[in-house]
Amino acid sequence: MKKASAFKLSLIALGVLATAGITTTTAIAAKTDDGITAQTMTDALHTVMAADRKIYTKLIISRLAKKEKVITASEHWKDEKALVLPAQMFRYASEEVAKKKPSFSYKLLSEWPINKQNAPKTKAEKEGLKFIAANPGKNFYTEEKLGKKKYFTAVYADTAVSPACVSCHNDHKDTPRSDFKLGEVMGGVVIRVPMK
Ligand code: HEC
Repeated sequence: MKKASAFKLSLIALGVLATAGITTTTAIAAKTDDGITAQTMTDALHTVMAADRKIYTKLIISRLAKKEKVITASEHWKDEKALVLPAQMFRYASEEVAKKKPSFSYKLLSEWPINKQNAPKTKAEKEGLKFIAANPGKNFYTEEKLGKKKYFTAVYADTAVSPACVSCHNDHKDTPRSDFKLGEVMGGVVIRVPMK
């Protein structure tokens, strides 16, 4: 028992330390239906998502399409026998996860989207993307009500971790922005957890 409560306390302490970019205080204490802090959950999910995304771009796209020129990467991967883009990889995985009906959902958005479907729609998404772009290194946490349901919504910066991110976006015919630089925020990952 003692161990469990100490663990809980340290999680709260961690939460407080990690909330430099928080916008609402209620969001810190928010719990998921399973009783763990929503922020602890979304932070952990995002760590895995960001790592997978970075590794896929660096070890597959950048190496095979950019450096060794073995194969190209394209949104029309099926017709062109090309590699699936990092953003498509992310979306297909998110759709696969959704089939399991987990207690969260996630997507990749941007204020400067190549695909207009990836523009922010809700107030929290718009505020979140603005916040992470203006405050590098910080995450955005809030609560939002969509329909009748309340959600804990977290937005994490999606940064240009490889030169491949920058060159592909800057050169794409549909991009509304062509001055992205390495290390810059290009968009954000939105993770949503329904609240009690
Ligand atoms: C080879 C080209 C290519 C590479 C490399 C690439 N992207 Fe993209 N990215 C795209 C295209 C095309 C889309 C739109 C795809 C869709 O939604 O169908 C996209 C979508 C996105 C989106 C969602 C908003 C939008 O523009 O539609 C973000 C954010 C993003 N990419 C960031 C990155 C980052 C960060 C990297 C590197 C880790 C990266 N991209 C690598 C081509 C690329």
